Amino acid sequence: MPRPDIQPPSSAAVARACDLLRAGDLVAFPTETVYGLGADATSDHAISALFAAKGRPEFNPLIVHVADAAAAAEVASFDARATLLASAFWAGPLTLVVPRLPGSPLSSLVSAGLETVGVRVPGHPVARALLKAVGRPIAAASANRSGGVSPTAPMHVGESLGERVAMILAGGRCPIGIESTVLDASRDRLVLLRPGSVSVGEIESVAGPVEVPDRDPERPQSPGQLSRHYAPSIPVRLNATSVGSDEALLAFGPDGLIRGGVARVNLSPQGDLYEAANNLFAMLRGLDKPGHASIAVMTIPAQGIGIAINDRLRRAATAP
Ligand code: TXA
Ligand code: MG
Repeated sequence: MPRPDIQPPSSAAVARACDLLRAGDLVAFPTETVYGLGADATSDHAISALFAAKGRPEFNPLIVHVADAAAAAEVASFDARATLLASAFWAGPLTLVVPRLPGSPLSSLVSAGLETVGVRVPGHPVARALLKAVGRPIAAASANRSGGVSPTAPMHVGESLGERVAMILAGGRCPIGIESTVLDASRDRLVLLRPGSVSVGEIESVAGPVEVPDRDPERPQSPGQLSRHYAPSIPVRLNATSVGSDEALLAFGPDGLIRGGVARVNLSPQGDLYEAANNLFAMLRGLDKPGHASIAVMTIPAQGIGIAINDRLRRAATAP
């Protein structure tokens, strides 16, 4: 596969990324969560190219990334509660699903024909510099092929997308490493669509009760919540207490010393869930080798960001 153009995020590289985006090309950039594959959200042509590059079903809407709340208000409508949430958590890893503004400049493909749109203001300095400089809304999905493991380093983007991406702005490893919390703020009740590092408790302390739908794989809440997702090419086995001789072990915590297996890494030897979230996708990629029969994953506590880790692991473990 030809090598993609990977650039450190100098001001010249950011300017070139803006030119590419304005011309309808795809640019990958770092956010505090994962690397995004960005496209001009006002261009049908650019958005179609983004869906094609990811191999993503067109019914799965994209998140629109903007530089600040004022830019968000140009594409979507924010009631008092959504405004409160935006001021509490932006810039940061919370995506708000809110009504599209009538007459919004966004391509209708961005929200897959829905009347709502997911909007976020990322906190990563390179993402912010890019969004400020480009001066228009940028739709960005995780910069991997659809259904695969999200990228947390520039190299992962290159491995997933190759020449499908015109340029990669390389900002090192993503500090959080797991995608944003997605919250539906378009209805009477707030509904959690995807757990992330902003917890339900934090949201509730700002804006009141949040409904957390029972995870029913037959009835995805968000079009993107297809059950199999974030998946390596080999099977993933959860809550492992032993490891087969042909398996790779993804351990967690000080007790992560199960014997056996062909390979082993520990998400966090000290049992720190933030460290585990940060390592999750890179370690899944590292263990995804043809010589490994499957990846056995130890139990991760379902508290705080551990809820988001378990959500991603469950989807990774869902049979195709
Ligand atoms: O952290 C993140 O959110 C990363 C970085 C790049 O910002 N982006 C990301 O995008 O994870 P993506 O496309 O991989 O996931 C977007 C999720 C999908 O589950 C999608 O269905 C949901 O957000 N979503 C987007 N717009 C929506 C809408 N209008 N209604 C319901 N769900 C929506
Ligand atoms: Mg994704």
